[in-house]
Amino acid sequence: MKLAVIGIGKMGQALLRRWLAANWITAEQITVYDADPAVMTAFAAEYTVQTAVSPAAAARQADWVLLAVKPQVAPSVLKTLAADWQPGQVLVSIAAGLTLADLRGWSGRQPAIVRVMPNLPAVIGQGVSAICYDQATTEIMATAQSMFTVCGLAADVPEALFDAVTGLSGSGPAYVLMMIEALADGAVAQGLSRQQALQMAARTVEGAAALVLESQEHPAVLRDQITSPGGTTAAALRVLEHGGLRAAVIDAVGAAAERSRQLRTDKPS
Ligand SMILES: NC(=O)c1ccc[n+]([C@@H]2O[C@H](COP(=O)([O-])OP(=O)(O)OC[C@H]3O[C@@H](n4cnc5c(N)ncnc54)[C@H](OP(=O)(O)O)[C@@H]3O)[C@@H](O)[C@H]2O)c1
Repeated sequence: MKLAVIGIGKMGQALLRRWLAANWITAEQITVYDADPAVMTAFAAEYTVQTAVSPAAAARQADWVLLAVKPQVAPSVLKTLAADWQPGQVLVSIAAGLTLADLRGWSGRQPAIVRVMPNLPAVIGQGVSAICYDQATTEIMATAQSMFTVCGLAADVPEALFDAVTGLSGSGPAYVLMMIEALADGAVAQGLSRQQALQMAARTVEGAAALVLESQEHPAVLRDQITSPGGTTAAALRVLEHGGLRAAVIDAVGAAAERSRQLRTDKPS
């Protein structure tokens, strides 16, 4: 495989760093292009990947082209590539809110298209990615699965559910990070050092998540095991219910999904 990555900001770099760290691909197979020459030069110096002078020049080197620019920029970039697509080339887009139909409209008939909604923990192989396809062979689907399984959980999801996925796993790390921060704040208020509180808060979240995955029990069943009658956890849970934590999280997922729908409506043609 020859891979071109157009846009090496936070997410483009997160994916590249993971693929290289896991030896899923080698630096010789990668060409990058970014509008910011300083970003491109710094990344190329660190990883000895090739750089290109334009998105079209990067795409010409590759059979797989990952588009990792902001959704607002994607249409103009894709239009510059439209005339050059060759049989067998694959476009992978991670742009929030841009549908397969949009991507097809800007790219023309040629490339197979893979749409992915990854999240930032992909950089350490702990990400969650939803994937859907247009004109993809089973071989292309298998390669895309492998590409994102290296980054964590990779799930085929119908495109109609991508706004929901954006609200859950795409934006979700930010909600959990806020929870970790708040847990640590609470512990600092009770006398723990900031450093120890943050480490213990993060491990608490990691442990609870691992317990759900490994036991395959419903979270409420596991929660009951921690909540003894009249105990400390029951006192805390009453405060969280009173403060509306559950409703706030449900609404947060909904708000992010709704914003994803709006971005799609607002997108440039
Ligand atoms: N961050 C996340 O957690 C996350 C999760 C899922 C999906 N995504 C998707 O990933 C994509 C990238 O997001 P991001 O957070 O990585 O954004 P970002 O950090 O802003 O990265 C985008 C990069 O693309 C560059 N760029 C702008 N115009 C370009 C052009 N015409 N050609 C090539 N490069 C260009 C930007 O340079 P300048 O800074 O100079 O403009 C920047 O370096 C978005 O579509 C987003 O929806 C992100």
